[in-house]
Amino acid sequence: MDELILTKPTEKYAAEITAYRKEFIEASGSMDGCGSLRRIADPLEWIADTERKSKKETCPKELVTATLFLYIRKSDERLIGMIQIRHELNDYLREYAGHIGYSVRPSERNKGYAKRMLKDALPYCKEIGLDKVMISCNDTNVASRKTILANGGKYESTVFEPEKKVSLEKYWIDLS
Ligand SMILES: CC(C)(COP(=O)(O)OP(=O)(O)OC[C@H]1O[C@@H](n2cnc3c(N)ncnc32)[C@H](O)[C@@H]1OP(=O)(O)O)[C@@H](O)C(=O)NCCC(=O)NCCS
Repeated sequence: MDELILTKPTEKYAAEITAYRKEFIEASGSMDGCGSLRRIADPLEWIADTERKSKKETCPKELVTATLFLYIRKSDERLIGMIQIRHELNDYLREYAGHIGYSVRPSERNKGYAKRMLKDALPYCKEIGLDKVMISCNDTNVASRKTILANGGKYESTVFEPEKKVSLEKYWIDLS
């Protein structure tokens, strides 16, 4: 089985980050767990923005501190996915978006990577003091629902998010 690692975004992966972004934009894909990657095309600027949001002291006041990991396949150093872990919930996150967002690049889907990436990220959630995490998915997103269920997600409820006009299924994963 391929070995993959979670790692913080650094300059070393700038070209991969650019390619990841391009693939999502060309596929009109939802860039979940990518921070501001849709808005920020320059990878170095995006890395700096991600770094700023990962520390309480530098995180913009309206956001909660969040850690973003790249999921890198070791054999070819390809960027396979991104996962963002929010350290706490604000009102919006509690009601809709939860602690974790993630994506896998379109050309690497359906190979089990999302399930593995979420599994590999859960110990970090515990490390930062979370004893359970909430993850939500669009009620039509079969792959994301399966990713959550495969990692022990327990269904809580379905809520309607009025801005994006989508129904979101909310799940909790117990880390204790
Ligand atoms: C959701 C997403 C992360 C899944 O990534 P992935 O690497 O393809 O997922 P996996 O290969 O780990 O598959 C997880 C499960 O979904 C199934 N699956 C994968 N793609 C599927 C599809 N298009 N339709 C139905 N099921 C699918 C897999 O068979 C697997 O099911 P299993 O548990 O029965 O084996 C990816 O589709 C994505 O990035 N989507 C856009 C962003 C997004 O929706 N993020 C989630 C919101 S929080």
